[in-house]
Amino acid sequence: MKIIVRADSTECGAAAYEIFAKGIKNGAKVLGLATGSTPLPLYKEMIKSNLNFDNLTSVNLDEYVGLPVDNDQSYHYFMQENLFNKKPFKKTYVPDGIKAVDDPEGVSREYDQIIKDNPIDIQLLGIGRNGHIAFNEPGTPFDSLTHEVKLTDNTIKANSRFFASIDDVPKSAICMGIANIMSAKKIVLLAFGENKAAAVKKMIEGPVTEEVPASVLQKHPDVTVILDQAAAAELDDKYKN
Ligand code: F6R
Repeated sequence: MKIIVRADSTECGAAAYEIFAKGIKNGAKVLGLATGSTPLPLYKEMIKSNLNFDNLTSVNLDEYVGLPVDNDQSYHYFMQENLFNKKPFKKTYVPDGIKAVDDPEGVSREYDQIIKDNPIDIQLLGIGRNGHIAFNEPGTPFDSLTHEVKLTDNTIKANSRFFASIDDVPKSAICMGIANIMSAKKIVLLAFGENKAAAVKKMIEGPVTEEVPASVLQKHPDVTVILDQAAAAELDDKYKN
């Protein structure tokens, strides 16, 4: 794993942008994208850049089950607002959270096929406080493909800041499995803030275990982790540069 530590999330976004811009210039055609607060500094850099995305395809990690695309808390909506409206892509994929209400298995198999047909060149990731990647919570098998996930109480609580009340937070999501994520040619994971520091330490220094989903990234040949000072605070000095 390559580890980059920068002063703050804005600088981290700029460092991530450099990797994506270089990858795109070198021929990357499919970007794996994420939602949440972590990708925003990167998306801001992408929007203000003169890069053209209309020859690119994007494949998002996940979507809540039961939220229509025009619900302002759906990940479809998030992506439109924070990137796609300003930087149109040739084609964008986000799991179908409405179809998944009745047929999560069908939606999952279709999404696996989409990923197979559009192999991901660069996958962007955030990390949860419990070490989750996408909505793959502790205990998710490393060989998992796209699947429906029942969200843990901790994740529901963490995400409730985006909803009017905790009761409005969907209870499940469709998300790429760990094997789908690991199939990406290159992975860039960003983490900001002290509440990510413990998970970051386990991901980088701890044993590779399904109890810390992000620890699987130690086994990927091309991962760059970009951290602000606070998220890097618990790392052994030898990992910081
Ligand atoms: C979002 C996702 C999640 C987040 C993680 C961190 O698509 O897959 O794994 O990356 O929960 O969330 P934030 O970025 O809001 O701290």
